[in-house]
Amino acid sequence: MSDRSDTPTAVIRLADYRPPAWTVEHVDLAFDLGIDRSEVLATLDLVRQADEPIRLNGEGLELLELHVDGRRLVEGEYILANGVLEVGVEGDRCTLVTRVALRPAENTAFEGLYLSGSRDKGFLLTQCEAEGFRHITYYPDRPDVLAKYTVTLRADKARFPVLLAGGNPDGAGDLPDGRHWARFVDPHPKPSYLFALVAGRLERISQDYTTADGRKVDLHIWAEADVIDRCDYAMDSLVRSMRWDEQAYGRNYDLDVFHVVATHDFNMGAMENKGLNIFNAKYLLADPDSSTDDEYRHVEAVVAHEYFHNWSGNRVTCRDWFQLSLKEGLTVFREQSFSADMNSAPLKRIEDVALLRRAQFPEDAGPLSHPVRPSQYSEINNFYTATVYEKGAELVRMIAGHLGHDGFRKGMDLYFERHDGEAATIEDYLKALGDANGVDLSAYLAWYGQAGTPRLSAEGRYEADKHRYRLLLRQRTPASAGQPNKQALPVPVRLSLFDANGRAMPLRLEGESAADAGERTVVLTQAEQAFVFEDIASAPVASLLRGFSAPVVLECEYAPAELALLLRHDADGFNRWDAGQQLAGLAYDEYRDGKPEGAAVVAWASALAGLFHDASIDDALLAELLTPPGEIELVERQAERDPERIRAIRRGMLRALAKAIGIDALKARYAALREAASDGLDAASQSRRQLKRRLLDLIALVDASGAVALAGAQYSDAPSMTDRLAALTTLAVTDAAAGEQPLAHFRQRYDGNALALDKWFAAQAQLPGDAALARVQALEDDPAFTLKNPNRVQALLGTFARANPTGFHRADGAAYRWLGDRLVAIDALNPQVAARVATAFNGWKRLEATRREAAHAVVAELAARKDLSRDLTDILARVAL
Ligand code: PHE
Ligand code: ZN
Repeated sequence: MSDRSDTPTAVIRLADYRPPAWTVEHVDLAFDLGIDRSEVLATLDLVRQADEPIRLNGEGLELLELHVDGRRLVEGEYILANGVLEVGVEGDRCTLVTRVALRPAENTAFEGLYLSGSRDKGFLLTQCEAEGFRHITYYPDRPDVLAKYTVTLRADKARFPVLLAGGNPDGAGDLPDGRHWARFVDPHPKPSYLFALVAGRLERISQDYTTADGRKVDLHIWAEADVIDRCDYAMDSLVRSMRWDEQAYGRNYDLDVFHVVATHDFNMGAMENKGLNIFNAKYLLADPDSSTDDEYRHVEAVVAHEYFHNWSGNRVTCRDWFQLSLKEGLTVFREQSFSADMNSAPLKRIEDVALLRRAQFPEDAGPLSHPVRPSQYSEINNFYTATVYEKGAELVRMIAGHLGHDGFRKGMDLYFERHDGEAATIEDYLKALGDANGVDLSAYLAWYGQAGTPRLSAEGRYEADKHRYRLLLRQRTPASAGQPNKQALPVPVRLSLFDANGRAMPLRLEGESAADAGERTVVLTQAEQAFVFEDIASAPVASLLRGFSAPVVLECEYAPAELALLLRHDADGFNRWDAGQQLAGLAYDEYRDGKPEGAAVVAWASALAGLFHDASIDDALLAELLTPPGEIELVERQAERDPERIRAIRRGMLRALAKAIGIDALKARYAALREAASDGLDAASQSRRQLKRRLLDLIALVDASGAVALAGAQYSDAPSMTDRLAALTTLAVTDAAAGEQPLAHFRQRYDGNALALDKWFAAQAQLPGDAALARVQALEDDPAFTLKNPNRVQALLGTFARANPTGFHRADGAAYRWLGDRLVAIDALNPQVAARVATAFNGWKRLEATRREAAHAVVAELAARKDLSRDLTDILARVAL
């Protein structure tokens, strides 16, 4: 697009924030929509706030007319430079009118107004967060300018039968020449990033909803005709989300209609535009024949996430983009709580922490590390990160834990009440939560400003003669770019102490009179602090950081037998799993150091073999317990990263596990699960499928040909996509020849089903080792492959570069060079997508020498180019450092 890096890019700093010089009271937008050319007539009622000219953002717009208070301005009466339209006016108010032309069909960046699908069948839509509105009209495109919107859409009625914009409908009708119009008025002031329109041929499903406070709302989900029958699960999820927000937070929906639209052409997951959410089809469509269980859960979670933004993001928005986590961290937390209530809470927690460790910890340990609230950026699109979202959600969770359930609710009520209709900051948020509870939460602000994952080290000492247990906690956050010295943070540590029989002991801290039940939270506020527990009858095993009470890396020297005890007895489902993860980490170390019979390996494998036969354990939890940390997380346990080696070690330990359980026991359990198979979405059926999949992978490690036979049969008669895809992936990864026929079958069966084909591309992008690159390259020639579709690019290139360590990091560097070429090609179409794929180079510095040099050569060469987008240039510049 327009922002090539030969125009030097400015750095935006939080410290430079100034309130807007002009605000907008009301904006009237009139669109004449066409695929090749659209026109936008904008009428802005502006109000002066400071003694400065009016400055409006605008990029890639063809300015046709400009009027101020009814007078047309000619060249020389305004300045148009560097994406800013500057007009000097007298007086404290003025009405400014612009007419501009846009070219939607040429917009391959999917920011602003663009075309989804083909020229003859596709539809028009907009994406404005973060700074897309300036690609639609001249406007103060910043989130702290909140205005009331009136929007009129006009278009050819046959080509664009459906016209939608956010707000309440305010009339529609026919026009001469086969055209028609529709008007929408949004009574709630909003920032420009929440504006949206959709126009084209779309079908809908609808449902009536009455809010807890009595408002009748029409819910509509819109999609193209071929996929409209896959929207029912999203509608159910929407209704569940709306009820949940009423019950859990007392939040009601606030317009008469709520639209949700699916598109296959979207850069991100979904977007919370006021009254008109727009979804990547991947997170909206679901049907038993083509969606996995995971995908059903994602649809439920993302529908909820976008809906929850209506309060956490829309009614109360962000003052500036540095505060992004104010809406994203909070909304992810709300979504996590909802999903935990709808499904299994411990499994949800395991899934979320696993994601944090897989995606956010590596991000925070490399050159792209940044605080949850960054202090500067050059391209805001590059800050929609795991840190802002996932770590941000962990910070909200910590604070919620500090206040307790009722206190947090009181605080949230005050936050929404105090800042309704405003653009707020993270300070405002902490202040409201604190004020409602009469406490000062400002110490948590340091978590928002400090990058890097803190290390929490714990050392326990039992004083048998005094019956005391002394727990020494220490924290240290490694230095990161621009932050050489880190301060101590408040770290809440929820803990229990177990006796040798796995019973939680009553807890009384030195100086206290009564003992607590078997769990409590201590908060480490200094670099180092000791906590002394009294009346401890025998040497305990500490279960620390229960429920993952703080987003830190725990360093505690457990003996393998202690972790095995927690793995068997901890009542906290998360900590039980995490004890297994820590034990697996120790087992990995022993394998790595040439001790495949070491104490940890034996303890890990035999504890799990025991649990395998424990009927009280849920199938899905067992599947999680049988999964050690992945190849990406295990990087942390190697001084230098050699993905082949990590994979070989991990497979070695899994083989030991499979043998400890016994191949016959694995096969018998697998057969029993197959027997009980159904295509139901109930929790028990989903759990069975998850365990079945895990068992198939374990069987493959000790009996490859046996596993191929089982997977072949599972593929042929799979009642659901979950089973089908699991079998297909096992086949493709275990035995290239055996995978061929089912892959061809799948390709044909799902021809024309974009989301199913994405899974087909992604499954093959995960082939381990050197064979992967050639396969990925061959898949680029598949007629269904295109660099223009973000989902397709993520499925093939994204999966390969970010989820296939042995394939991408091949020793000869060929995959790095190949990806470098592709990044340039993608960047010319869609800078945001290119930038996201490029983050695959994040960890290059920790690779072993040969790979490191090869990766660096590619990164350095790309970083030196002058013809790449600001998005990609920003990532490369930071990664290359
Ligand atoms: N705000 C969206 C969310 O719910 C994400 C998004 C950002 C979508 C930017 C599009 C563009 O998280
Ligand atoms: Zn969000």
